[in-house]
Amino acid sequence: MKKLAIFGSGSGSNAENICNYFRDSNYVDIACIFTNNKEAFIVKRAKKLKIPIIYISKKKLLAFFGVYKTLKSYNIDYIILAGFLLKIPKKMINLYPKKIINIHPSLLPKYGGAGMYGRKVHQSVLENKESESGITIHFVNENYDEGEIIFQESCKISCKEKIIDLERKIGLLELKNFPKIIEKIIFK
Ligand code: GRF
Repeated sequence: MKKLAIFGSGSGSNAENICNYFRDSNYVDIACIFTNNKEAFIVKRAKKLKIPIIYISKKKLLAFFGVYKTLKSYNIDYIILAGFLLKIPKKMINLYPKKIINIHPSLLPKYGGAGMYGRKVHQSVLENKESESGITIHFVNENYDEGEIIFQESCKISCKEKIIDLERKIGLLELKNFPKIIEKIIFK
C-alpha cells in the first residue's frame, strides 16, 4: 500500500477529488491532509472525509523536523501539493526526491513563480490575450513551479472568456487529470 499525504491551503476541491478517487483502492491510501490555514475549506472537507487533518505553521514547515516526524509516523511515500501556498523547504525536497507532486493552473513555464496562484494566474493569462491556457502537473524542486514537468493539458480560450469561466474550465481539467496522473507516477 502506498501512503499519500496531501498539502493544501484553500478550498480543497482537488484534495477531495483525490480522496474519492482512491477511496476503495487496495494500493493507495490518503493517510492525512496537512494545511497551514485553519480557516480553509479543505479542513471541512477533510473532516467530512474522515481523514486526519494536521495544522502546520510556516515556521514549523521551515524547521521541518516535526513535520518529518509526522510524515514518518504515517509512513508517507508521496506528498501531493493541491493548492498549497507555502514554499517547500529544501530539506523536505531532498528527503522526498521525485516524491512531491504539484498541480499548477497554467501551462508552465508560463504564469508560474512566486505570487502566481489562483485567480491571479487566470487574470494574467486573459490580460495577455493568450489563445490557450491549461494545467501542469510537475515534481517539486526548490524553486516555485520550476520542477520537472510530468503532464500538461491545454484548453482554448475564447475572446469572450472571463476569469470565472477560465477558472471553471481549468478546475475541471485538474479534477479530470490529477488523480490519474498521481496513479501513473506511483505505478510507473
Ligand atoms: C488549483 O487551481 C491548483 O492548480 C492550484 O491551487 C488550486 C487549488 O484549488 N495549485 P483547490 O484547493 O484544490 O480547490
